[in-house]
Amino acid sequence: MTAPLIDPFARSITYLRVSVTDRCDFRCVYCMSEDMKFLPKKDLLTLEELDRMCTAFVHMGVEKLRITGGEPLVRRNIMSFFNAMTRHLDSGALKELTLTTNGSQLHRFADDLYAAGVRRVNVSLDTLDEDKFSQITRWGRLKQVLNGIDAAQKAGLRVKINAVALKDFNEPELPQITQWCAERDMDLTWIEVMPMGDIGNEDRLDQYWSLKDVRKEYENHYTVTDLAERTGGPARYVRLEETNQKIGFITPLSHNFCESCNRVRLTCTGELYMCLGQEDMADLRGALRDHPDTEQPLEDAIRAAINLKPKGHDFDYSRQSVDGKMSRHMSHTGG
Ligand code: GTP
Ligand code: 5AD
Ligand code: SF4
Repeated sequence: MTAPLIDPFARSITYLRVSVTDRCDFRCVYCMSEDMKFLPKKDLLTLEELDRMCTAFVHMGVEKLRITGGEPLVRRNIMSFFNAMTRHLDSGALKELTLTTNGSQLHRFADDLYAAGVRRVNVSLDTLDEDKFSQITRWGRLKQVLNGIDAAQKAGLRVKINAVALKDFNEPELPQITQWCAERDMDLTWIEVMPMGDIGNEDRLDQYWSLKDVRKEYENHYTVTDLAERTGGPARYVRLEETNQKIGFITPLSHNFCESCNRVRLTCTGELYMCLGQEDMADLRGALRDHPDTEQPLEDAIRAAINLKPKGHDFDYSRQSVDGKMSRHMSHTGG
C-alpha cells in the first residue's frame, strides 16, 4: 500500500462511492427530470477500467467501496465488477463492499451480491403507499422493490432503508414506515432533500422537511437515545428504546457534517467529485487511459485531486431561498 489519502483539512479519505451508470429505471422527482439525457455509452469507463480505478484507490487506503448509480444494478454485466472487487475484501484491504440501490433489480442479484462478499445494502424507499410510490418514482412499481427487499433479506443481506424526508408527502407515513422497518429488522435512515439538478416544477423549499422536526416527531412517540455508533457514512444514529430500533439522520441542511467527511465520488466516466455539494471535479480518465501499463500517473492524478477537496457544501435554505444549488443531478454522482 502507498501513502494514505489526506485532504487539505486533515480528513482521511477512506470511502469511495462509485457511480457505475447514470441511468436508472426510475425517475424520482427530486432526482431526475422526466426527459433526462444520459451519457452516450461510449463515454463510459469499461468495467475493467472501473476496476483499475477502484484498485488504485484501495491501494491508497480506501476501505469502504459503495457502488451507486443511477441504479447500479441496471449496468450490463455489473456482477463481474462486484466479483472482481471481492479480491480486495479477501486481501483485507477493503473492509466493506456495498451498494445503494432502488431495489428494483434486487430479486435478480441478491444471492450473487452475497456471494461476492456484500453484506449490507441500502435501499431507497420513500413511501409504502403504491400510488404515492408511482407518483414519486414516476416509473417505479412498489411491488417489485418489496420483492427485491425480500430477496435481499433471504440472501442474508442486511437492509437499510433510505427515505428522503418530504414534507406533506411521507410525513404522515413516519409511524408506518418506522414500524415496518422494525418488524422486518431493517435500519432506517432519513435524508434531507438537497438542491441537486434542475428537476422542473418541484420546489425544494416546499418539499424540505427538516430532520430536526422528524426527530421531534419521534420524541412525541418514543424515548430517543443518541448513539455514538458510526458506519463511516454521514448518518448520525439514535435508538428508539421502545422498539430497540436504530434510526439514522442525514442532515446536510439542518446540521452540516462536512468536518468529518471521509469520502469522494467517482462517476462512470472517470470524473472524481471531491464534494457532493460543489461543482469542482478532476477528470481521471486521461491518466488511466493514456497509461495502460503503469498506475503512477493515475495515482498522481488522484492525489492532486484530493488536494483540491473543498471544506464543504454551501447548501442553505435558511434565508427562505435555495442557496448552494448544484447544476448536476444526484444521479450523476449517486448521492
Ligand atoms: P452507510 O454506509 O449505511 O452509512 O451509508 P451512507 O450514508 O454512506 O450511503 P448512502 O448511499 O445510503 O447515503 C445516503 C444518502 O446520503 C446519499 O444518497 C446522499 O443523498 C446522502 N449523502 C451521502 N454522503 C453524503 C455526503 O458526503 N454529503 C452529503 N451532503 N450527503 C451525503
Ligand atoms: N436530496 C436528497 N437525497 C436524494 N437522493 C436523490 N436525490 C436526492 C436529493 N435531491 C437520494 C435517493 C437515494 C440516494 C441515492 O440519494 O433517495 O437514497
Ligand atoms: Fe463531504 Fe461534500 Fe459531503 Fe460535505 S457535502 S460531507 S464536504 S462530500
